[in-house]
Amino acid sequence: MKGSGKLWGGRFTGDANEAFARFNSSFAVDRRLMDADIRASIAHANALVGAGVLTANEAEKISAALDAIAAAEISADSEDVHSYIEHQLVEAVGELGKKLHTGRSRNDQVATAFRLWLRDEADAITRTLKRTQTALIAAAERHIDAVLPGYTHLQRAQPVLWAHWCLAYFEMFDRDIERFADARKRINVLPLGSAALAGTSFNIDREAVAKELGFDAASRNSLDAVSDRDFAAEFAAACSLVMVHLSRLAEDLILYASQEFGFVEMSDAVSTGSSLMPQKKNPDALELIRGKAGRVFGDNLALLSVMKGLPLAYNKDMQEDKEAVFDAADTTRRCVEIAAIVLDNLTVNEDRARQAASTGYLNATELADHLVGRGMPFRDAHDAVGKLVLMGIENGRELHELSVEEMRTVVPDIDDSVYEALSLQATLASKSSIGGTSPGRVRAELEAAKKKLS
Ligand code: ARG
Repeated sequence: MKGSGKLWGGRFTGDANEAFARFNSSFAVDRRLMDADIRASIAHANALVGAGVLTANEAEKISAALDAIAAAEISADSEDVHSYIEHQLVEAVGELGKKLHTGRSRNDQVATAFRLWLRDEADAITRTLKRTQTALIAAAERHIDAVLPGYTHLQRAQPVLWAHWCLAYFEMFDRDIERFADARKRINVLPLGSAALAGTSFNIDREAVAKELGFDAASRNSLDAVSDRDFAAEFAAACSLVMVHLSRLAEDLILYASQEFGFVEMSDAVSTGSSLMPQKKNPDALELIRGKAGRVFGDNLALLSVMKGLPLAYNKDMQEDKEAVFDAADTTRRCVEIAAIVLDNLTVNEDRARQAASTGYLNATELADHLVGRGMPFRDAHDAVGKLVLMGIENGRELHELSVEEMRTVVPDIDDSVYEALSLQATLASKSSIGGTSPGRVRAELEAAKKKLS
């Protein structure tokens, strides 16, 4: 590939050192902004007609050539995507191409292209998150009656519906979607027309450019517009929280798929084997998701670290912004996609999960609540049930396996009605207030979730 010319050669007499030129180049990374930069360049050409710099006919010629550049294979190396496009434009339309850069700088140009790219990406990640929410709903409905132990401190705590677990992650992804929608508002502001840092002296109708490119507004301050990347940091932060959520989903399922838990099985489609141990079936997909979370946090921190303490306005440090944010976006999107595939390929071992939810005194709180219903203060009930649990542990029995006589040694006025309260069904059904895991409540939440998605 032949190198294309620099955009700034006039005041130089010497050539750049080759190693430095390579070091300075961002084309390998920012070529991904090609389409976005060309969209913005076409809008700029149109604005130059209004400013009296180009005729309508000239702007049309430039736009057509830019479209052709977007459609063609990359045919040369360059300092960055902006230099590449301008060089190709001059090759295509000659002297006229040299007029396009009137009233703009690569500083407002790159900020504009980056925002256009991130706007599309926020929408794409949102679509992918919705796809994963759909997979969660499907997994819940495939096993609508499944129950598993809920945990705190990774100790069995209280039984919950499998569908309740699924909807917990649905909620997290819902907030993630909101975060991208919110970040999108601040992404969707037009920097173009800020020029290098001070604004442009040409009569460019910035609001018309904003409208043409689908931005909500034109930026209000040129120094700020060319030099802040807070919109990208917000995007990366939203990615980080998606990855926190995905890593927890991954960890839950990795545990549940282990022989020790045995609550779920992942199909062969999303598992791998061991090169040495023939019996192994490993949850690599989930482990990779869990691992890649760290990588996205790194991207997020990299961007913040690049921006910290930079003087206004543009500094070349900021060229480092894109690699981190591209990686955060790509990694997050892929992980969300894979999570959906894992969920589609997941089976709950309902017997085993129900068995686990029925043993280990998960109904102890229920018993205390039952005693409260009979007039005992909760603190006393908690203490009494603690004693009954101890009795059970010493005799190797669950609470419902203790006789009424045995229970009466701790709670004198207890009667047979206690067994109904101790049943798994009753334990679940009683959690019927908003947000609880009762089957009725969860079914209603599933319907609400489906409605939200459609
Ligand atoms: N490749 C540069 C970047 O990504 C474009 C802006 C360059 N501006 C400049 N004045 N050197 O930041």
